[in-house]
Amino acid sequence: PQYENILIEDSQKPGVALIRLNRPKALNALSSALFVELNDALKKLEEDPETRAIVLTGSDKAFAAGADILEMSTLTFAEAYSKNFIAPWSYIMTLRTPIIAAVSGHALGGGCELAMMCDILYATKTANFGQPEIKLGTIPGAGGSQRLTKAIGKSKAMELILTGNNYSGEQAEKDGLVAKAVDGGNKEVVDLALTTAAKIASYSRVAIVAAKEVVNKSQDLGIREGVEYERRIFHSLFGSQDQKIGMKAFAEKKKPEWTHS
Ligand code: HXC
Repeated sequence: PQYENILIEDSQKPGVALIRLNRPKALNALSSALFVELNDALKKLEEDPETRAIVLTGSDKAFAAGADILEMSTLTFAEAYSKNFIAPWSYIMTLRTPIIAAVSGHALGGGCELAMMCDILYATKTANFGQPEIKLGTIPGAGGSQRLTKAIGKSKAMELILTGNNYSGEQAEKDGLVAKAVDGGNKEVVDLALTTAAKIASYSRVAIVAAKEVVNKSQDLGIREGVEYERRIFHSLFGSQDQKIGMKAFAEKKKPEWTHS
């Protein structure tokens, strides 16, 4: 389908889809219309068995400069509450396909929150993260207070959210928010993300889905329940063909031919 706010690009890598946020005039501000398209694209990719990893990126200037402030500015409490404003943003959290954020430029407010909803976050060293909602008289509304705090700890998250300060990709890597921060711009960070995505796409889909599920559980469960949960999923993988294929190939010193089942 033709989208107006996003582009689906050829990743040139087998099994990997590349989505680019594309509202250049508004620094990729995340409007409701953009999310309708993004969620539609994600749903189609999730249903496509050939897509085993997704990269989400923006431009050199902006991953996304936040939720669309113009759209939000006149919203009333009753409208926000009764329409459950921002709820569609959570759709990305339901994906079983791994998704990597490749951030260059601004990733502010909802842009930072969207990047944090992805499974792996890569950035350029000069990327500009932040939760500047406080400057607009509001607070993060798409999970930022929770995910940022989990990622970098309470004191650092509190400082960023109460001040609205900028936060570089380089610092975000040091603090563990970002898995890697690279020199260069959008091209360099997208190249890194595509390389990782291609590696993920080369493995058994069933094992990848299980691995993503158990890591995500760690965000919700205590360590004891989390370890038990992991063990159950680990046990269940003995029911997959690919576990047999992978271990047999190792013993025979061959490359495994995954069936994704
Ligand atoms: C709507 C936006 C926007 C946004 C930028 N634009 N950010 N429009 N919503 N979040 C628009 C500008 O209005 C402008 O349009 C164009 O993009 C270019 O922006 P400039 O400000 O001219 O660019 P620059 O001087 O380079 O400054 C870049 C910037 C600044 C520092 C990123 O645009 C900025 O501060 N933006 C707002 C960042 C922010 O507060 N984000 C959090 C939003 S609240 P025109 O038409 O004038 O050219 C939020 C809540 C999340 O995200 C909670 C729920 C999810």
